[in-house]
Amino acid sequence: MAATPPEGLRIRRMEPGDYVGVARTMGAPRALAGTLQLPLPSLEYWRERLAKVDTESCSIVAEVPLAPNGHDIVANLALHPTNLHSLRRRHVAAIGMSVRDDWQGRGVGSALLATAIDRADNWMGILRIELTVFADNEAAIALYRRHGFVVEGTHRAYALRDGVYIDALAMARLHPRPPTLPPA
Ligand SMILES: CC(C)(COP(=O)(O)OP(=O)(O)OC[C@H]1O[C@@H](n2cnc3c(N)ncnc32)[C@H](O)[C@@H]1OP(=O)(O)O)[C@@H](O)C(=O)NCCC(=O)NCCS
Repeated sequence: MAATPPEGLRIRRMEPGDYVGVARTMGAPRALAGTLQLPLPSLEYWRERLAKVDTESCSIVAEVPLAPNGHDIVANLALHPTNLHSLRRRHVAAIGMSVRDDWQGRGVGSALLATAIDRADNWMGILRIELTVFADNEAAIALYRRHGFVVEGTHRAYALRDGVYIDALAMARLHPRPPTLPPA
């Protein structure tokens, strides 16, 4: 059975002011191992990156209540068109996501991914969501499978990670019930 999301978990659109929380998530060891981030991350890089408003993408964060009355960003996800210049790939989007190390395995990733899939399926006209995941990232592969993604192939020696070239899997999910036009 899927983990129940933490009490008070809130998923909302990413805002420029979220850069500190996003940098903290992306700079943690497991996020480094599972993504293409580099060690010794730069806060300024994330400030600049989040400052650019990208209206074509769906960038979201998950936050939990922080006593006494604040919120703590614990995960982020970006769903973005793969190629804005090709009309023939307008139905395709790619996903990248990370949950902060101390919040993994508590249902946050699943809640975030479900939100992005709803957005893609029901609001953006996306028929295919694709992603790349390191072949040894069992948690991520299981999460994606649970949400309908299948493995399409292997990229050999896809990226360098701590001195070792790592394979990656290409995964994708096709819309299970593509929207249809109303009857004439
Ligand atoms: C991969 C990641 C996003 C999963 O998020 P999460 O919040 O830990 O996942 P959840 O707690 O929502 O778990 C959802 C599902 O993922 C799978 N899963 C999660 N952790 C797992 C683990 N350690 N081993 C195997 N499966 C795991 C399970 O299928 C789980 O469903 P279940 O609880 O019903 O069994 C998170 O571990 C992460 O951010 N890792 C570092 C960055 C990264 O690798 N990003 C993905 C790049 S492609």
